[in-house]
Amino acid sequence: MKTQKKLITLFSAIGILMMVLGLYAFTTNPIADESYSPQPPWENLKVLPKDISKDSLDHLMKGYTLALGVKCNHCHAPSKTDPTKLDFPSDAKIEKEIARGMITMTDEINEKSFKPYFPKPIPHQVYVVNCVMCHRGNVNPEKYLSQMGDMYKTYDPNRDNRKEKILESGEWKE
Ligand code: HEC
Ligand code: HEC
Repeated sequence: MKTQKKLITLFSAIGILMMVLGLYAFTTNPIADESYSPQPPWENLKVLPKDISKDSLDHLMKGYTLALGVKCNHCHAPSKTDPTKLDFPSDAKIEKEIARGMITMTDEINEKSFKPYFPKPIPHQVYVVNCVMCHRGNVNPEKYLSQMGDMYKTYDPNRDNRKEKILESGEWKE
């Protein structure tokens, strides 16, 4: 009887903690603290359409932050003149370049493996594969899959410093 009571208290304590954490997650807006107001014309788009509207770009960028569980500053470097702001056109962060590769890969999968098999492809059908399908709120999908069980143990911690290795090798240039 006693242990049962203790367990109930423990579980309610955990429950309350989770609720507080959950509320906290909802109040942290990925844009709010980065005083965001960039407007077209965009200066440095290499894979997205150069004339993409502000609404569409905002929608995509917000989607990336949610899919990876990060904020804008994961891919965008701080401004050199005002470090409290982000320099969106800058290519100083390797994460931005990796993201370009990911955008291209995702587009290619949709284009080659899905589009041909829809009788009358309309744009929203063709975007089947997207960032969140792999990332699910994590920067490294391999890492969280490896926690799911023996079947998915492809994650190699030695591979997780890939970015550092590319930077060290000097192969990656801004
Ligand atoms: C996962 C990485 C990633 C995240 C997170 C991200 N972005 Fe981006 N962003 C990119 C990439 C990649 C480009 C360039 C796309 C291209 O080359 O076509 C870009 C381009 C932009 C541009 C266009 C800059 C220009 O003029 O060339 C703006 C503005 C921008 N992002 C705003 C944001 C905002 C605001 C957020 C947070 C809500 C955000 N981004 C989060 C990857 C990211
Ligand atoms: C087919 C699965 C898949 C899809 C779809 C995918 N990614 Fe990834 N992504 C990965 C894997 C796996 C890694 C980890 C690779 C590594 O670092 O070795 C990764 C790594 C990244 C990284 C580097 C993260 C870091 O900081 O270490 C960024 C940025 C990224 N992805 C952005 C994106 C964006 C943006 C999209 C959607 C346009 C996307 N990804 C779609 C599988 C995927």
